[in-house]
Amino acid sequence: MKRLVIITFLASLGYGQGNAEHGKVVFEKLYCSACHGHDGQGGSSGPRIGTKPPAVAVLIAYVRKPAGGMPPFTAKIVSDADLTDIHAYLSSRPAPPALKDVPLLNQ
Ligand code: HEC
Repeated sequence: MKRLVIITFLASLGYGQGNAEHGKVVFEKLYCSACHGHDGQGGSSGPRIGTKPPAVAVLIAYVRKPAGGMPPFTAKIVSDADLTDIHAYLSSRPAPPALKDVPLLNQ
């Protein structure tokens, strides 16, 4: 019970959910942004991963062992904690506007 209270308290502080600001730094430093775009919106070669990235565990597993054209990033290159921060950063990216909210498309 006590443990649950402590975990809930830490979660309320955002602990364990990643630091989006630091995630942005790592995302740029490792060139994730070169393929996925600065907001993870999708880029020249990588698909959209911003706004709604895969769950943290799925993202970490994928980055360690990608299936296609993406290079693998081992734990020596990027820690699980840094990938959790990247996940927080990607989750904080705004969604693209709905087409009905783009004035130019609604004349
Ligand atoms: C050289 C280009 C490149 C770089 C650098 C790169 N990616 Fe990717 N990524 C891809 C491509 C292309 C895919 C699509 C599947 C594939 O080919 O592996 C992908 C897929 C993904 C997926 C799976 C998306 C899904 O919907 O299943 C995630 C998550 C991801 N990348 C995260 C990252 C992160 C985090 C980094 C930086 C640590 C990164 N990528 C760096 C090219 C890149």
